[in-house]
Amino acid sequence: MTELEALNTKIITCESCGLCKTRTNAVPGEGAENAEIMFVGEGPGYHEDQQGRPFIGAAGKFLDELLGSINLTRSDVYICNVVKCRPPSNRDPIPEEVDACRPFLLRQIELIDPRLIVTLGRFSLSWFFPRDSIGKVRGSLRQMGGRHYYHVYHPAAALHNGSLRQVILDDFAKIPLALEKLRESEPVEAAVAVSPSVEQGRLF
Ligand code: URA
Repeated sequence: MTELEALNTKIITCESCGLCKTRTNAVPGEGAENAEIMFVGEGPGYHEDQQGRPFIGAAGKFLDELLGSINLTRSDVYICNVVKCRPPSNRDPIPEEVDACRPFLLRQIELIDPRLIVTLGRFSLSWFFPRDSIGKVRGSLRQMGGRHYYHVYHPAAALHNGSLRQVILDDFAKIPLALEKLRESEPVEAAVAVSPSVEQGRLF
């Protein structure tokens, strides 16, 4: 059993918060253990809870399309969520639930060690960058604590607001360039935008 599989076993049997009482299945995450890109969403919805797999509902279909638009499939990347169990009625996870799940996401990041973490939506963004607003940082590549992050709107946002569809596609279209930059291992400092109005650590 790999360390990631062992972690998944811990996740699916976890009883650290109240969500274990209402879940059908916990949703650890899936994809390549050596993925270069890790996508982090908010938490499972109805379909994910039913099947124990991330992003398999309507938002997931759009995520598949977004991945396809940059010539990737699910098996090239790793996909997971901030919380691993569905909050009832798809409400936002409460802080205790997020805190209970925190060690799991931290360990997933450590084990997969992705070159790039892509946050999907404001909830995931705020897990990493609590003070940031998605409208301001979407489409930007940043570094913090030795890791690189890229931010996009949640795919579900396009289901509610059709005009965001192209915005998300356009933001995804920049991911290959971001990866290329990171593969080349440019000294991060050299790429940081110098404008004082741009947050520290922002690469584009
Ligand atoms: N939305 C999420 O944030 N994650 C899922 O797995 C499904 C929908």
